[in-house]
Amino acid sequence: MSDPATLAADVLRERAPGRSPRLGIVLGSGLGGLAEILGEAVAVPYAKIPGFPTSTVPGHAGRFLIGELGGVTVACMQGRFHLYEGYPAAVIKLPIRTFAALGVEALLLTNAAGSLRAEAGPGSLMLITDHLNFTWTNPLVGPNDDAWGERFVGLEDAYDPELRARLLRIAGKLEIRLHEGVYCSLLGPLFETPAEIRAYKVLGADAVGMSTVPEVIVARHAGLRVAAISAITNMAVGMSDVPIDHAQTLRGAAIAAADLTRLVREFAGSFAAGQGPRG
Ligand code: HPA
Repeated sequence: MSDPATLAADVLRERAPGRSPRLGIVLGSGLGGLAEILGEAVAVPYAKIPGFPTSTVPGHAGRFLIGELGGVTVACMQGRFHLYEGYPAAVIKLPIRTFAALGVEALLLTNAAGSLRAEAGPGSLMLITDHLNFTWTNPLVGPNDDAWGERFVGLEDAYDPELRARLLRIAGKLEIRLHEGVYCSLLGPLFETPAEIRAYKVLGADAVGMSTVPEVIVARHAGLRVAAISAITNMAVGMSDVPIDHAQTLRGAAIAAADLTRLVREFAGSFAAGQGPRG
């Protein structure tokens, strides 16, 4: 079969023979360190995967990994593709469908985000319950790939309620405070103006960032179950005196990464055979 995602998955399977990932994970800005704790990791640079573009952002390594986490085989993207890099939205289709072609049961997306909620400060984690797509585009614009999914895609419960409940339960057990909220995705690469942040708050946003939503859309089209977590790296502009820049994003991510790593390890473990859907 010549589907690009099938070809990409074949290349990954050749590099990690006999390994069947159950969970896919996308690591956000400054969160790539989570890949270091994968056991028996096989890393394949995007440049070696047919059809994959290469990631251009510092803090994004640009490789696909297959490894062991919490006793479960996982597939992991260390470095993602952002619309602000100049890619057309459709570029997101291949990596996300590669997870599906590898046979994962679910996809966990992580990102760095600015918080619009005073109680969710830098270094904290927010479970995404829903989104606002303010990129004004999405990867499914254009002819539909019928082999992957329906033309019209419903996004109610895009963030799987059972996976969300599972993550909240695990966070409680690990004594990690997991906020819940709506993620507003923006095109970037600009950070927002204070007026924009005030507007997004009125519209229901709890966090802002420049990724994730295009991936969620492709994953839902393909029928993958999705969960997503924001590592809060900063208060959104106008909400604190700390200036916002990429270095601050990476510093905030480093603080959040400790809790995120513990949470993700245990979440991966809940996909072990015999754990059942309630984990
Ligand atoms: N705005 C947009 N994207 C971000 C932010 C922010 O404040 N922090 C991390 N990513």
